[in-house]
Amino acid sequence: MRIIMLGAPGAGKGTQAQFITERFGIPQISTGDMLRAAVKAETELGLQVKEVMATGGLVSDDIIIALIEERVKSPDCKNGYLLDGFPRTIPQAEALKDQGIVIDYVVEIAVDDEEIVSRLSGRRVHEGSGRIYHVKYDPPKVEGKDDETGEPLMQRADDKEETVRKRLKIYHDQTAPLIGYYQDLAKTQPEAAPEYVSVEGVGS
Ligand code: AP5
Ligand code: ZN
Repeated sequence: MRIIMLGAPGAGKGTQAQFITERFGIPQISTGDMLRAAVKAETELGLQVKEVMATGGLVSDDIIIALIEERVKSPDCKNGYLLDGFPRTIPQAEALKDQGIVIDYVVEIAVDDEEIVSRLSGRRVHEGSGRIYHVKYDPPKVEGKDDETGEPLMQRADDKEETVRKRLKIYHDQTAPLIGYYQDLAKTQPEAAPEYVSVEGVGS
């Protein structure tokens, strides 16, 4: 089973991915988590992408495509995987197709922009595991601490309101066209196209 989660920043891709990957026993491949780990470890890749991520821009297609190409070769991907945050541009979607990778489902989560701003300003994450919380909508048992480990929760560098608005603009300009791309593919090449599912992200 190969699934793509599509949706604006803060739509709930990571949150839903945790349920789906557990249910199907497949790994979650989050390009955002992979890049944040590289930034934290100060690898060559991390140093290269740190600034663009912190300011809410997109990392170049070449870097991201190479990262995914390598990751899906891992043995844990042999029964499928869930892509969270990839593809994010038409060239990234084309690269996936050119590699002969067949996707079963594209799941779009649709959420209003204003709801997004409030979700991201209250988001807290446990860096070690990627577990996601919200100060109001999904609070941890103990304020500021991860439920499993008791370690402190962090706020992402790109969750400042001004940066969130920039990420939303980039989403509408560069990522939302993928909705039409996959819907058209389902009409023109139904045998090769993934099934397209759109869900309303539940309001808080
Ligand atoms: P990435 O990590 O992918 O960030 P994103 O797409 O901006 O998405 P988020 O992780 O912010 O949101 P989410 O949809 O996962 O929401 P979540 O479940 O956490 O990418 C980060 C950066 O990396 C990019 O800006 C770019 O620089 C780079 N990058 C990554 N991939 C790239 C690519 N392919 N190409 C180029 N650059 C790339 O939920 C958000 C909050 O809402 C949480 O607090 C949660 O608890 C809460 N919440 C969730 N669901 C609900 C609900 N139903 N009701 C109320 N609250 C909810
Ligand atoms: Zn996420």
